[in-house]
Amino acid sequence: MARLRAIFIGNTFISSYSLGKFAPIIVKMKIVILGPGAIGSLWACCLSRAGHSVSLWSQHQCDSIYLQQEHFPEIQFTSNDKDKLTSADLLLVTLKAPKVLPVIERMVLDIAQETIVVLMHNGMGTAEAIDTLLPNNPLVIATTTHGAFRPKPNQVLHTGNGYTELGGYNDGGKRCDFLQPVFEHALPKTSWQTDILTPTWHKLAINCIINPLTAIDQVKNGELSSLKYQEVITLLIDEIRQVLNAEGLPVTREKLVTTVHQVIEATSDNYSSMYQDIFHKRPSEIDFITGYLLQRAKAHNISAPVNQTLFQKIKQIEQDHD
Ligand code: PAF
Repeated sequence: MARLRAIFIGNTFISSYSLGKFAPIIVKMKIVILGPGAIGSLWACCLSRAGHSVSLWSQHQCDSIYLQQEHFPEIQFTSNDKDKLTSADLLLVTLKAPKVLPVIERMVLDIAQETIVVLMHNGMGTAEAIDTLLPNNPLVIATTTHGAFRPKPNQVLHTGNGYTELGGYNDGGKRCDFLQPVFEHALPKTSWQTDILTPTWHKLAINCIINPLTAIDQVKNGELSSLKYQEVITLLIDEIRQVLNAEGLPVTREKLVTTVHQVIEATSDNYSSMYQDIFHKRPSEIDFITGYLLQRAKAHNISAPVNQTLFQKIKQIEQDHD
């Protein structure tokens, strides 16, 4: 039997029509990408090629940005256009976690209540703040394992094929499952999660281990499979597991060990995002990764000395850069 779902977002009509095995019909959305770094630029190119009206919002004040992804034709995006922002159906925020709140605070008057806000970054803790700042907007969290790299300002490379998980953070966001075919059509694979906090916590656990260790020692992810790191990884996993369990996630130590080692293997040739931030003397996402874990550990009265040591080491390196 045919099923027709019709949804209006702002002025845009989104319809998802499925008949047996036919793919859903996705109608053009007005999308603004806030923070077109590597991953934001990749989504900009993919969503634009999928037929959506995509514009960018960058900290470099400019009217247009050209981007080329691999062999595809170069695309010209309008940038920092207030009309595009106020009329956007979807604001995809790909800024790094520390920038999310300060940047959105400055834009708050130009974001319409109907605009769906999607947060896509490493770490946790921004959604609470954005939900308070924009209480009427549907808020969605996204985690992605796609790899992207920007060798030049106008060029983006899709360096690793991954998957994206989306899910609603607030009540409005929980009704946005129609975004799944939009993202899937642009850059597969994408799934909609009714409980997005579980995959977000799992990603946080992975980041709490790989990111600070690779950043402190300035090594590729793959180095972490050497014998030298196994003791510290085990201690970190024990602390992280206690926090996840206290948060209501029944994950076992074995499951975490397997997941972490799978990611280390799959990304062995990568320089983690924290490695790169420390290498380029930029502020890292430590407050939203290990910092968030430590906040939740404290709330549950769990001691996490090994994570605390890594947190302090990264903070010290950042201070020395200052
Ligand atoms: O932050 C990163 O670099 C990535 O999330 C991950 C999974 C650790 C791979 O490098």
